Amino acid sequence: MRKAQLLDQAKAVLKSNDLGTWTRPAPGLYPHQWLWDSCFVAIGLARYDAKRARKELMSLVRGQWLSGMLPHMIFDEQSNHFTGPHVWQSHISPAAPLGIETSGITQPPVLAEAVWRVGESMGRTDRLEFFSEIFAALLRYHGWFYRERDLHGDGLVVSIHPWETGMDNTPPWIEEMTHNAMPMWIKLIHKLRLYPLFDIFRQDTRLVPASERINTSISLLLFHAQRRLRRKKYDSLEILRRSHFSINDVLVNSILIRNNRILENIAHELDEEIPADLRQSFNKARLALEELWCEEDRQYYCRNFVTREWIKSPYIGALLPLYSGAISKDRARQLVKTLKDDLKYWTKYPVPSVPISSPGYHHLRYWQGPAWINTNWLLIDGLRQYGFFKEAEAIKRSSLRLFEQHGSREYFSAIDGTPSGAKDFSWTAALIIDLLLEKP
Ligand code: GLC
Repeated sequence: MRKAQLLDQAKAVLKSNDLGTWTRPAPGLYPHQWLWDSCFVAIGLARYDAKRARKELMSLVRGQWLSGMLPHMIFDEQSNHFTGPHVWQSHISPAAPLGIETSGITQPPVLAEAVWRVGESMGRTDRLEFFSEIFAALLRYHGWFYRERDLHGDGLVVSIHPWETGMDNTPPWIEEMTHNAMPMWIKLIHKLRLYPLFDIFRQDTRLVPASERINTSISLLLFHAQRRLRRKKYDSLEILRRSHFSINDVLVNSILIRNNRILENIAHELDEEIPADLRQSFNKARLALEELWCEEDRQYYCRNFVTREWIKSPYIGALLPLYSGAISKDRARQLVKTLKDDLKYWTKYPVPSVPISSPGYHHLRYWQGPAWINTNWLLIDGLRQYGFFKEAEAIKRSSLRLFEQHGSREYFSAIDGTPSGAKDFSWTAALIIDLLLEKP
C-alpha cells in the first residue's frame, strides 16, 4: 500500500474517534478519555493538525486534581461503560477537581513529551504561547509525583495499581498482587470455579474475544485493588501506609525521568525556573534507575516498595530505561542484547510485551505477550538515543507492516501478526502517522 493510503487510513481512524476536544481510544470498548492515549494521539495529530493536537492536550488539564495529579481517566458522562464514575466516585476525595468526574490514579507521564512534539510542529509564537499555557499544569504534575510518590526521597516513584502503568495485566504486577493481595473471596471463587457467574457481567468480552482479554480472576483482582484505593479516598500517603503491593515500576520511572528532562527543556524555552527542590528530585531520579538494575541477571526489574525486593518477572518495561536516556552506554548495550534474543523479544513481529520464553507469555492476551505500537514507538525512540538505528528501523518496519496488513488494531501477536483487541484503536493510528511522517 502506498504511504498516502496508509496515512489516509490512519487519519480516518482518528477522525472517527474524535469527540471535538478529545479522542476516545476506540469505539465501544473505550469511550472515555485516557491520559497516555491522548498524549499519543496528540503526537500523531501534531504531524498534520497542530491546533487540534493542542486542544487534545489542554483537555487533559481540565481533569487535574488539586494535588497536581493528572488522572488516568476523565469520564464521558454520556457513556455507561463498566469502569465509569460510579466505580471511581472521585468526588469523595477533597483533592478531586470540581464539576468533572475522573479516576483517582494516574498513568505513565508522557505528557511533557507530547507537549514538546506538538510545540515543535508550531511556529515560535504559537509554540511559546502553548508552552506557557500548559507549563504550570506540567510543573504541578511532576511536583505531585515527587511529593506524593517518592516517599523515601530517593528519586524513584511508586505506583499503587497496575492501571497506573498502563499495562493492566503485566506479569510483575500480577505476580505481586497474586502473592500479596489476593482476598479470600477471590480465592474461593477460584476454588469453586465460579468464574462463569462473573463472566456474565463483563462488557469487554462481549466486544472482544475473551482469550484476548484479561482473565476474570485478574480482572476481579484489579477491581478489588481499586476499591481499596477508593476506601482510602485516593490519598497516596494513606494508601502507602498500609500497602501490600506498591511497586517501583521500571516503565513508569523510565518515562518520568525522560519527561522530567523534557520539562526542563520546556522551562528553558520559556525562560522559566524549575523550583530547586524539584530540580533536585530530577537529578536524583536520573541516578536512581540504577537501583532497579540487577547485576547478577544483567537486567532491570520492578521492585516491591515495602520489602525492597526485586520482582524477577521480565516484561517489556524492563527495556524502557533506553527511553529514559539516563542509563550508561554499557547498560544500553546489554538491553539491546536482551531485545535481540530471539527466544525473548526478537520475534517475527517485534516487540512482544513479555519475552516469548516466559511462563506467563500468551501471544494474544493483552499485556501478557502481544506487541503494542506505543511500546514499539517508545523503544524506537530509546534505541535511537543510544545510536541503535538498525534495531530501531527493524521495529519501525514491523510496526508499519502490522498496520498495513491488519489496520489500526489495539495489539498484535508478535509471533505471526494476528490482529487482536479493539478495532480502530486511536494510538496505533496516531503513532503510525508519526512514524510515516517523521523525517528520515
Ligand atoms: C487499557 C490499556 C491502557 C489504555 C486503556 C485505553 O486499559 O491497558 O494502557 O490506556 O486501555 O486505551
